Amino acid sequence: MEHLLGIKELSAEKIKEILDRAQYYAKALKDGKWDKQKLKDKVVMTLFFENSTRTVTSFNFAALRLGAEIVNWNASVSSLSKKESFNDTIDTLGSMKPDAIVIRHNEYDAPVKVAERVECPVINAGDSWREHPTQALLDALTMIQEKDTLEGLNVAICGDISHSRVANSNAYLLTKMGANVRFVAPAFFKPEKMPAEGISFYDSMHEGIKDCDVVMMLRIQKERMDKSEVPDDGAYFKEYGLTHERLKVAKPDVLVMHPGPMNRGIEITDALADDPKYSRMTKQVENGVYARMAVLDLLLTR
Ligand code: CP
Repeated sequence: MEHLLGIKELSAEKIKEILDRAQYYAKALKDGKWDKQKLKDKVVMTLFFENSTRTVTSFNFAALRLGAEIVNWNASVSSLSKKESFNDTIDTLGSMKPDAIVIRHNEYDAPVKVAERVECPVINAGDSWREHPTQALLDALTMIQEKDTLEGLNVAICGDISHSRVANSNAYLLTKMGANVRFVAPAFFKPEKMPAEGISFYDSMHEGIKDCDVVMMLRIQKERMDKSEVPDDGAYFKEYGLTHERLKVAKPDVLVMHPGPMNRGIEITDALADDPKYSRMTKQVENGVYARMAVLDLLLTR
């Protein structure tokens, strides 16, 4: 693996290797026993052209836990405001010889373009609605920790599928690893084309989450829509919001997940988001550090 640009191009064996390493770090950090200098003398650079709380911070934690230094380039105070082009910005930053670049951008394939211009590994931290590979890895880790395997799991991914890079990366990963993936959404959030074979589509939450092991809710990505396309919050919640009542048709030990940031009262009730019996949102965030440690380790110690 030279870069991590998406899940689509990874084999099931490579995904398993990353998840096994992430599991290793999950346990090692609990025991306090891991090589804290594994990435000593490496410098990781984050380039976030879009806002982030979870991803950018957990990449920082992951790099620091492995002994790497981290440079967080800040788009808002950069020379982009002086009309420096994207390519010139990347060439400039690449010339400083980082050991890895982590990039988030609102343009489709931006990380692929960066990988063509720099000499170091590039990690996609989310590009437009295309892919968010480390999110899918941390989500898979969260499922495996409680369900042991992804093989045969029924996973419903619900909500704004058509604008979601999280849905795409999860669909690629889960289908490659043998899970049964369902997309559950109103017709206006149905993607034009399914990202992978074998995904079933439901426009009813009741039917879509029935007998599921995992229900993953998605945020409505208003920033990727015209104003006229944005549904009314109340009407959307009535049909597609996840509640304790609605969840009764899923398996009794169902896990409720959400990549965040979450819009309480639109995609999910407060009560369910905060119910430790079902909700795994904080576990997902914790696992983000382990998944990103695994990715940095595998890319930087080749
Ligand atoms: N899930 C996720 O990507 O969250 P952030 O936008 O906060 O990084």
